[in-house]
Amino acid sequence: MKFFIDTANLDQIRDAQALGILDGVTTNPSLMAKEGISGDEAVKAHYVAICEIVDGDVSAEVIATDYEGMISEGRVLADLHANIVVKVPATLAGIRAIRWFTDNGIRTNCTLIFSAGQALLAAKAGATYVSPFVGRLDDISSDGLQLIEKIRVIFDNYDYGTEILAASVRHSMHIIECAEIGADIMTGPLSAIVGLLKHPLTDSGLAQFLADHAKAKG
Ligand code: G3P
Repeated sequence: MKFFIDTANLDQIRDAQALGILDGVTTNPSLMAKEGISGDEAVKAHYVAICEIVDGDVSAEVIATDYEGMISEGRVLADLHANIVVKVPATLAGIRAIRWFTDNGIRTNCTLIFSAGQALLAAKAGATYVSPFVGRLDDISSDGLQLIEKIRVIFDNYDYGTEILAASVRHSMHIIECAEIGADIMTGPLSAIVGLLKHPLTDSGLAQFLADHAKAKG
């Protein structure tokens, strides 16, 4: 499974990169706003800064909701760096734009996926990635992981090359469960990734090893 980090925070991206396990970055307009990034030039410069830290795909989302606007914004974003993937919402205009981007050699991430049908249409239009939002479905007492399972079955049935990017991953168990199901990629906060390492027996075992070593030495 590939590990992406879902943030626009450069320090967190550097920390994840330093771990040696980072395959890419996803952002969205809310995450950019959280970092105080606004204005076309600042946004573009920030995407380039992210691309310079991580050697992997970086999703950059369009703000336009109409087809023409998505195309013109997406072209600008894709020109910023070879690793930029244009993130487009799962709407009618978005699916049409994904088809255009696909036909013109621009890679896409279809975002805000909450149903198998949305994922199917995005794959049909040639999306590089689909982003089903696991956590946000869980938030409304729906089953986010069940959606990942359904999409996995559908994509395997038809050999779609579109990769399943499990998004809105909130905690470490989401990552384990996505890996069991066979999601191609997870994206989430660094805390969820680092949380995979937590185990009390590792902590107590290490403490015991160090105590025994000190005793033998002393
Ligand atoms: O990648 C999508 C993600 O940013 C949404 O996550 O936690 O805001 O639902 P969350």
